[in-house]
Amino acid sequence: MIVAAGGKQYDGGEETRLRISVIGTGYVGLVTGACLAEIGHEVVCTDNDGSKIRTLEAGGVPIYEPGLDKIIARARKENRLRFCAKPADAVPGGDAIFICVGTPPLPNGDADLSAIDHVARMVASEATSAKLVIEKSTVPARTGHELKRALSVYARRPGVSLRVASNPEFLREGTAVEDFLHPDRIVVGVEDESSERQLYDIYRPVLEQKFNCPVHAGTCPDGPAPKWLVTTINSAELIKHASNSFLALKVSYANMVADLAEKLGADIDEVTRAMGMDPRIGPSFLNAGLGFGGFCLPKDLQAFVRLAERCGVDFSMLRAAEKINKHRIDRFFDKIREALWVVRDKPVCVLGLAFKPHTDDVRFAPAIDLIHRLMEEGAQVRAYDPQAMEKARAILPGVEYSDSAYSAAKGCEALVIATEWPEFRSLDWERIRAGMVRPLVLDARNLLSPGEMRSRGFEYRSFGRPDVVAETQIA
Ligand code: UDX
Repeated sequence: MIVAAGGKQYDGGEETRLRISVIGTGYVGLVTGACLAEIGHEVVCTDNDGSKIRTLEAGGVPIYEPGLDKIIARARKENRLRFCAKPADAVPGGDAIFICVGTPPLPNGDADLSAIDHVARMVASEATSAKLVIEKSTVPARTGHELKRALSVYARRPGVSLRVASNPEFLREGTAVEDFLHPDRIVVGVEDESSERQLYDIYRPVLEQKFNCPVHAGTCPDGPAPKWLVTTINSAELIKHASNSFLALKVSYANMVADLAEKLGADIDEVTRAMGMDPRIGPSFLNAGLGFGGFCLPKDLQAFVRLAERCGVDFSMLRAAEKINKHRIDRFFDKIREALWVVRDKPVCVLGLAFKPHTDDVRFAPAIDLIHRLMEEGAQVRAYDPQAMEKARAILPGVEYSDSAYSAAKGCEALVIATEWPEFRSLDWERIRAGMVRPLVLDARNLLSPGEMRSRGFEYRSFGRPDVVAETQIA
């Protein structure tokens, strides 16, 4: 059953403050909890990592996500959001419990669902009243059924109703608050009318775009209302994996075409721009470069392939997308070698460490893999990122971190752009060039324009576009 927003009439359209518990305060859980409090609910967030809760209670925010600190502070001040160090204590008070714990990849690519199982046991043993248990974490299809089974196996108090729903998130890091408050669709996988109704009440302010919008100076922007999609639990779980895997497929497709454009002397930007004008294709996720990273796309793709294999369905198309993505670093490294000839002992500046701009997240970041590779080959790496240096330091100790792009580039023989932070576009490139030993820019994200870099006096290489190569002159 699929129902568009506004198509379904629920009685009692008044504002309702609901009691919600959010288990897990990673990117998804913290954004979900803070935004649910922002739209008027009474929310408690918990995590078994005590240090995260201590940071939050002290007024800090353990992750960088634009706008999040502001809404957390406001909701806490207005007593709509609190943090709780003991997960079990957060269960009894919530009528709805969002599970937002991690589902990291196992060595074989499957999603590790042990944290979900753990939460199921805890909810089942601590619940003293009816609860709607909502899986928000990305999970393979049929997890909802296993969750339901686990809740009934471990239930301590017979007669306490524990219902299960799936409500996948589509939050992009860097714009997660905006994505939560102004989504294009809200998908709920439910088994009964009362779960559907409860979820509608939770999301009513978002669906009707009636809240004091923190992102757009109090008023929600004009635009189409979010779509309200009611499905089975299995379908909701599948929608999430199918969406993320499709995005991965699109990125790998653009990268594959970029490699061919390079061989043919075509320009990938011209090609994808024209492709994206076709509404059946759309312009986003066609940027060629170092490939996709982060904690969602790579692991979701792997888990989706594993799920399909277990079901006996041929997903080799997605395997190919994964393979293309893995080879992006090799492809880029060929460019580095071609330009530098010998990499050993050369000072190389890397701009960008996060897996994409507007985040400090370095998990599965292509930039990090690239730096490992540069260091293996003996390069002296200097790096700068506007937000991600602290997180990178913890996993990449051998790098010299700089406090600006200018100091990172000074004295280097090559400058690599590994994350497409918009501010790198507007650097004073004359100043960068003046500080470098050799004016060589290797743009792994196609952020800059070859023509402009030529006129600024740089040698310049990117993906699927013409190189700007210096004439070699021997006196
Ligand atoms: C993703 C999904 O978009 C979101 O809906 C989901 O809920 C969580 O996972 P996120 O991980 O924040 O969000 O990153 P996303 O914006 O999807 O980008 C993923 C990766 O693809 C990044 O490394 C990005 O640099 C790369 N990418 C994206 C490209 O290489 N080219 C593109 O054209 C677009």
